[in-house]
Amino acid sequence: MARLQVTEVFRGISMPGQLHTQESLHAATNFQFQDTDVLLVTFPKSGTTWMQQILSLIFNKEDLQNIQSIPTWARVPWIEQIYLSNYLPQVEASKPRLFTTHFPAKLLIHNLKNSKARVVYLARNPKDVLVSYYHFHKLAKFLPEIGSFDDFFDQFLEGKVNFGSWFNHIKEWLGVQQDLNFFLITYEDLSQDPHGAVQSLCNFLDQQLESKELENILHYCSFSFMSQNEQLNYSLIPSEVLDHSMGKFMRKGVTRNWKEYFSPEQNARFNNVYQAEMGDLAVKLPWSL
Ligand code: A3P
Repeated sequence: MARLQVTEVFRGISMPGQLHTQESLHAATNFQFQDTDVLLVTFPKSGTTWMQQILSLIFNKEDLQNIQSIPTWARVPWIEQIYLSNYLPQVEASKPRLFTTHFPAKLLIHNLKNSKARVVYLARNPKDVLVSYYHFHKLAKFLPEIGSFDDFFDQFLEGKVNFGSWFNHIKEWLGVQQDLNFFLITYEDLSQDPHGAVQSLCNFLDQQLESKELENILHYCSFSFMSQNEQLNYSLIPSEVLDHSMGKFMRKGVTRNWKEYFSPEQNARFNNVYQAEMGDLAVKLPWSL
């Protein structure tokens, strides 16, 4: 099966060609969801791995220790890669089936809106997404080489990065939420009030947790635990895929790290674009810019 170039455009969206093929992406757009499925949707670098771990822990609360021997990407696989991976039989065996996607809404809505599958949209302050994505490009050999932070800043604002514009991604998913069984949660909610955020998520998922179970889940999804566990911190990925000499996947795990990177001029420019793109949005997002 032919591999794509470093970046391939699929239905108008740039994606990492070395992780997908045209067939796998096409198969993902036609993926048949079941009403009991849970689909995690994120723009890259929004805390996907963190939420994969949380979802998987919530649904395996009797087996919190053992499930950690399976990497997050196998427990909650990307539908973009299902066709190329051998994860589906294992996911089929678990109830409910848990999946992840970075796809924009327009590639999935035709299938999803006919199902009652639960959709968990995890968002993060885009300034922190930008910084995290910048560092990830240095690590990830399947992403295009980038120049300076200033160059990447411009590319991100123009939506010229893999999976396109952050602004379009969130606006399009929020725009179809009334057609879906949809729950919005943010990285900031999880950072500021992990108890409350996981509890609200459980309410949406119709899962009851004893307080001890909730404590255990919060322990196993903490940055300190996850960054030390090689099934969770991506350190086992071969160096041809992730160049570990360039940094860590589990980098900082904090909010507002952008303050160490944006110049005053970049910050003003970002705020103007944010206001123009997001100003009309009815939903209140928890970050301050
Ligand atoms: P930073 O680069 O800002 O540290 P994704 O999984 O979508 O690629 O997102 C990766 C980002 O989520 C990284 O952000 C990573 O450190 C952060 N992250 C992963 N697990 C986390 C956790 N348990 N708590 C807080 N942040 C976490």
